[in-house]
This record gives sequence, structure tokens and C-alpha cells, in this order.
Amino acid sequence: MTVKVYKPSVDSSKNAWISDLDQYQKLYDESVNNPDEFWAGIAERITWTKKWEKVRSFDFIEGNIKYYEGGKLNVAYNCLDRHVEDGHGDQTALIWEGNNPAEDKRFTYNELKDEVSKFANVLKSNGIEKGDRVCLYMQMIPELTVAMLACARIGAVHSIVFGAFSSDSLRDRINDSACKALITQDTGVRGKKLNIPMKVKADKAVKETPSIEHVFVVKRTGEEVSMESGRDLWWHEEMAKASNDCPPQEMDAEDPLFILYTSGSTGKPKGVLHTTGGYLVYAAYTHELVFDYHEGDIYWCTADIGWITGHSYIVYGPLANRATTVMFEGVPNSPDFGRFWEIVDKHNINIFYTAPTALRALMREGDDWVLKHGLSSLRLLGTVGEPIKEPEWNWYYNIVGKGKCQIVDTWWQTETGGIMITPLPGATPIKPGSATFPFFGIEPVLLTEEGKEIEGNGVSGLLAIKAAWPGIMRTLYGDHERFKQTYFAMYPGYYFTGDGARRDEDGYYWITGRVDDVLNVSGHRIGTAEVEGAIGKAEGVAEAAVVGFPHDIKGQGIYAYVTLMADVEPSEDIQKAILKSVTNDIGPHSKPDKIQFTSALPKTRSGKIMRRILRKIAENEIDSLGDISTLADPSVVDALVQNRK
Ligand code: WT7
Repeated sequence: MTVKVYKPSVDSSKNAWISDLDQYQKLYDESVNNPDEFWAGIAERITWTKKWEKVRSFDFIEGNIKYYEGGKLNVAYNCLDRHVEDGHGDQTALIWEGNNPAEDKRFTYNELKDEVSKFANVLKSNGIEKGDRVCLYMQMIPELTVAMLACARIGAVHSIVFGAFSSDSLRDRINDSACKALITQDTGVRGKKLNIPMKVKADKAVKETPSIEHVFVVKRTGEEVSMESGRDLWWHEEMAKASNDCPPQEMDAEDPLFILYTSGSTGKPKGVLHTTGGYLVYAAYTHELVFDYHEGDIYWCTADIGWITGHSYIVYGPLANRATTVMFEGVPNSPDFGRFWEIVDKHNINIFYTAPTALRALMREGDDWVLKHGLSSLRLLGTVGEPIKEPEWNWYYNIVGKGKCQIVDTWWQTETGGIMITPLPGATPIKPGSATFPFFGIEPVLLTEEGKEIEGNGVSGLLAIKAAWPGIMRTLYGDHERFKQTYFAMYPGYYFTGDGARRDEDGYYWITGRVDDVLNVSGHRIGTAEVEGAIGKAEGVAEAAVVGFPHDIKGQGIYAYVTLMADVEPSEDIQKAILKSVTNDIGPHSKPDKIQFTSALPKTRSGKIMRRILRKIAENEIDSLGDISTLADPSVVDALVQNRK
């Protein structure tokens, strides 16, 4: 198969930070041959109140990783104050576009600094101190960005819980890290949903979270909500009393900055912990180079701040680089399918970063929604979250980008803190669907199942990383043992990503998807074990096994095989009860697309469910089920195939 290669245009290379592959290669070699010198140089972009003593040290066996040890800094200072001090206080830092197209707001660096300082004082005067955990459960409103930076300013550790998660999920996340305060809003608006009961959901969670002392409530819609006196405080009332003078707390490079929960292949969600210095350096540096950010560019990442993409590439990376960053409260299909493109024109967006699932959903509505809008400001396009396939790549390139914008397909993870494998605009010839080459300092390897490195090109294997980089997570909150087990124990000496990949004849990396029991549904990361647990809580259910299957829009859909108690018959009601249980336990984004009732699951003689077979059936690859002779009862498979959904 020959793949068309898209070379960067002469124009795009001329002004790019990295303007050809030779320059990339030279810097890359430096970054991996002399990492101490390299990362010391890059860290100069950040303002430190005390210089580090040691650039880096890592031990992948014990899971001990440190960057810029001894260095001191404050993230909010780096994202706000220093730009103001440099005379850029009047530059727009944040453009907020509301769900309703008539609503938007702009914050200059001066204004954002004032808001952040005020809320930092609010937190302080309500007993929040350095090291305390603060949970943020909000929709995409400016106060979310303000609250994050306010935490960073006083050294509190934020833990953002995506606004679609259920009360139960919120409660578990708050309890796992014993958050002292919760910040939420009255109700939320998103697309046609104009009354998302955030405070009601928060109240339900907080009934069972002994560590929460205060709930701060932003008035977003003005919908009436109940406020518990003494515990609950209105954001606007507290802000009105607060001073805008709040000196930034000096933090150690390795002090925690935030916790972000993500799903794994087993057990409860993991509290991925990122620290201060290395994370900020890496987020800022990758943001500048991968998006080729130049002064004055208007940059929009459509992700939700509830996920890592929003942390690193709406807030921390862009603001550290004194970018103008856009934040959008709504959804791509409301009021119509042209909403993204209307916003691009309205704010003259130059750099646009989104997920393939959104592109697929928009592509099938036809080109007219795009063609109505000029989009002449666009210069660079990006994707993240899942592999991008030819059809949506071509549509993105030709219809959205008019054949003049390069596309950067960026591979990374919650755990990596920032982009890991990616083209650099201006330098990297693109092969659609390939994330291309490693970023500076990143040493990917492909491993066999036994953990041997696979050399050369034209090979496939398990994707692992050979050495640390500044943005890598430092631990799982409260469970360093699980951190070691999950990422380092299986292949000693490597960070294991959980993804498979191919390195083609030219050394390009192609991510082939998760090799563990983690699904990627519309860019949301979902652990099959969590969904199975939630289904198991529905009355009448005996056991469930969940796998992914290819889905036109979502990338992967959720396929659930369910066995019921002996005296229970499959019914609409049970089906509904299962969906409700998942919604309550996790959130609506984890609801199965297909439920197949079965009297038995394929198990080995030792009782282990053979997911490989379930996956094949869900994918409709029933001709390649492989060896089923190790099953306790091979006849189970026939019934499963016959009743396939
Ligand atoms: C998983 C991480 C940080 C990005 C948002 C998702 C998949 C991510 C790509 C890409 C193919 C990708 C991987 C990865 N993924 N980017 N460009 N091409 N797959 O973060 O929720 O931590 O999920 O998303 O499978 O392991 P996440």
C-alpha cells in the first residue's frame, strides 16, 4: 500500500520554530544524548524563584521520578503575573464562548490575574492551604479556569471531575483524595440541555464525603438551588469581599500541581498525580512547538477541561506561553452543525485542535455546514485522543483546511502530561493516520509480549517509553504500589503505555489502539471493569463482560454481554435498569451501545472470562475466533454467535 505523503508547504516552514527534518533530527539527538543539558535549556522559558539543583533523576523500577529538584516556582505566576510584569497585561488571555452564540467573554492577562488572585484569597480565607486537595466539578465556564489557577497560586492541589460524571463517581473521587472543598455551579448548559443539575448532583455526593468543608457555587444560570448554610458559599458573594492581591505561593518543582482521575483496565479509577516544574515546562514547550504557536495567534482546543487535554492545552501550556486561548461551553452540533466553524470565523482562530470523533460526527452531516464559513484564519489543525482514519483526515484537510493547513496528529495520555508522538508543523512530512515521530526527549520502543525490544522498521509491538521526560506523572495518589505495578512492573525498565503501535518502513509510528481492557469511546477513556461493575449492580444481573467494537462515530462502542440470575428472564425493564445503573454509577457517557443477554460467558477451566472471543464476536469476526478448545464449555460460543447484536 502506498501512502500519500503531505510535505509542509514552503510558507509554513519559513516561519516555523522547527523548519525541516534535519533540524528536528539534530535537536532530537541532543535531547536524548544530553537530556540534562537539553531540559536545563528548555526550563529557562519558565520563571523560577530559585534555580534547580539537579535537572533530572529517575528510577523506573521504584517509580521515582524527579525533574528540576530544588527548583522553586509558582505555576499561576508563570501563567499570569510574569506576562503582566512584562507589559502584556492588556493582551487577551482567555476568550470564552458560551453555549448560546450570543454569549461570550474576554479576559485580558490583567483581568485573569485579578480574578485568580481574588479567588485564591477566597480559598485561603476559607481555610484552604498549600497541599490541600480541592475538587472542581463544573461545566466549561471561565470560573473553572480561574479556580484551577487559584489553586495553583496558593499551592492547593486541584482534582477536576468531568461534569458528566455521576454523583457516585464524584463522591468516590472526592473521598479517594480527601478533598477539603468542592467548587461547582448552580446548573449547567450544554447544547440543547439547559438545566444540567450540577449542584443537585454535587449535594448528593457531598452527603458522603466527610472531608468536604465548603462548597463554592458559581451562579451560571440563576436556576434556584438549595444552599446549606455554613457549608455552601456563593462564588460571587465571596469574590465581592476578596482582595485582588494574593502573592503566589513558592512551590517546589516536585510539589503536586493536580490529580486527575482516569480509568484503567482493572479496579477503581486511578488518581494520576502531576507535579509542578516538569509538568509546566513540558506542557509549555510542547504547546509552542507542536502547534507552532507564535505571538498573536488565536488558539482553540475544543476539549473539555475535565480531561488532560484541557489541563495541558487549554490552560497551562497556552497561558505559560502567553497565548490567547479559547474555551467553549457548548457542543459542535448546537444550534447547528456549523457551530465550530462559526466560532472559528467569529474569533479568527488560527490553530484548531479537536478529536477525530467530532470530525466524524460533523463530516456525515455534509460539507455545506463548513463551506458556509470562510475559515480563512485557520493555519494549523490538530487531532488527539484516538487514531484518525483516512476519510475524516481527508475531510479535515480538504474541506476544513482547504488543503493549506497541516494536520498534527498528536499521541499522548493522561499519564504523560503532554504530547509524546507528533509531527512538528513546518518540519514533518505527514502520512495521514500516523502520529509520525517522537517529540524531543521521548524514546519510544516497541516490545514483544515477553518484553524484548523490537529493532528496525516495518515492525509492530507494544508501545513503551525507555526513559523519563519532564511531563510524566509521578505517582497514583495514595497508591504508589499500584503506580509501579500498572506502568513499570510488566516490562522492567520501561514505562508501558497500554497501546500497541507499528513503526513503518520510514520509522513513522502508527498507534493501533489499546492492548489492555481500556476502551476509547468518543475520545473518553473507559475501563471495561468499571462498566462491568456498574452493570453488576443492576437488580437481576449475575455477571457481565464488556468489550469494545468498531463504531462509525464514536471510534469504539461498548458491547456488554450479560448473564442474569437463574430466575430472571431478559426484558426491556432489565435493559433499562442496566443503563440506569451505569448512568448512576459512572455517567451517561459509559452506557453500553449493545447489550446481549446470554446464559453463559466463555470461560476457561479456571473460570477466567475469555475476552478475546467476546471481542471477536462483538467485532463480527466470527471466522477468526481462534483456539476455543481451552474453554470449559466450547458450546457457549455457538449461542453467543447466534444471538449476536
Ligand atoms: C489513550 C489515552 C491525552 C489525549 C487524550 C486522551 C489514545 C490518544 C491518540 C492518537 C491514537 C490516541 C491512546 C492512549 N490516543 N491520542 N493521536 N492516536 N490513539 O487521553 O484519556 O489518557 O487516553 O488515548 O489509546 O493510550 P487519555
